[in-house]
Amino acid sequence: MHFPLGGPVPAEDIVGRDDFITSLETRLAEGQSVMLAGPRRIGKTSLAFEVLRRLKKKGFYVGYVDFFRASSKRSIAESIINSCLENRTGIRKTLNAVWDRAKLLAGSAKIAVKVEDLELSIGFPKKEMDDETFLEFALNLPELLAEKDGKRMVMVFDEFQDAGQIAGLDIYKVMRSHFQHQNKVSYLFLGSKESMMQSLFAGKKHAFYRFATVLPIPQIPEEDWMSYIARKFNERGIEVTSDYVLREIVQLAGGHPQDTMLICTEAYYTLLEANERRLSSEIVRIAYERALITLTPVFDEILDEVGKKPLVREVLRRLAIGETVYKDKNNPNNIKRAVDLLSMSAIIEKEGRGKYRFVEPMLKEYILRNY
Ligand SMILES: Nc1ncnc2c1ncn2[C@@H]1O[C@H](COP(=O)(O)OP(=O)(O)OP(=O)(O)O)[C@@H](O)[C@H]1O
Ligand SMILES: [Mg+2]
Repeated sequence: MHFPLGGPVPAEDIVGRDDFITSLETRLAEGQSVMLAGPRRIGKTSLAFEVLRRLKKKGFYVGYVDFFRASSKRSIAESIINSCLENRTGIRKTLNAVWDRAKLLAGSAKIAVKVEDLELSIGFPKKEMDDETFLEFALNLPELLAEKDGKRMVMVFDEFQDAGQIAGLDIYKVMRSHFQHQNKVSYLFLGSKESMMQSLFAGKKHAFYRFATVLPIPQIPEEDWMSYIARKFNERGIEVTSDYVLREIVQLAGGHPQDTMLICTEAYYTLLEANERRLSSEIVRIAYERALITLTPVFDEILDEVGKKPLVREVLRRLAIGETVYKDKNNPNNIKRAVDLLSMSAIIEKEGRGKYRFVEPMLKEYILRNY
């Protein structure tokens, strides 16, 4: 895909967050753990991957665990262990290789030797181990490995708020009790459910209270988008008629990273289909309409999920047309509950007192047209 869409983007397509990436890199390298929370598809995983790429180049051990993909305490542990061991063996699923000796020996001799080496220095968990012991092993491993190899390690835990749902809320306590004694490892926690992440890290009673520095994810400046989009179209021999067109794309997407990429993609295909080589305002308009169509199932799903109650739908409609939310006096508490639900679901964000904005401005347009 010429404009990367859906999932972490390669280094050369990361727009506008260079200073932030440097700052994350520095903090983590110095041993500070960091937490980033933000709505879906604003670029959390892309940031984390880039930070890990940079740290790896500098000789750090790195690991990435996605809790969204884990299904049990055991699979969480496996994923942590594998991501640690990959630094040594260069293979994704070292545990499988360890447990299936026959296959390991039949395979690459180089890997077999590396695995033997590893066994001597850290010992391996047995397949029969119970889940608790297995998890303990996993949680100790980053520090153990870093220590043995004279390295520093940075681990990313993505969609961290899912850990509790998968393995029970106790897992946070267990994790914290291990992590707080580690001094060769720092952690970058990411999560798309902001309120859950906030309470885990900022609630006095919660296990990760004050364990990590909480940083806001910065918006991508308009100018950065504009020069990126111009470069990408130029690379394909497409002439951009004016800065105005570029600004139009960014503003139509309302600064939402994935939607900006989506409009660009649609513009690119529209040009190909029309056999045109000039990006004009007209093309951008068509691209926007097409992007809205491809987003229909996504938006319908979001709205089905939250819009079961008529009042929530009414609040959404008021927010979309820019009306005051609390206009009728009869049920302010119910309205507040509706507003809370919408911010918890990361559909809206508070902008100031009683002011909210749509996280994804194209969703606002969709509501205006269809709701
Ligand atoms: N800095 C960026 N520069 C350019 N595009 C970006 C950037 N960040 C995100 N995107 C766009 O958003 C998409 C999603 O990015 P990413 O997967 O990193 O976000 P996320 O917040 O982790 O999303 P999810 O909630 O789905 O896990 C990318 O495929 C890309 O189209
Ligand atoms: Mg992600």
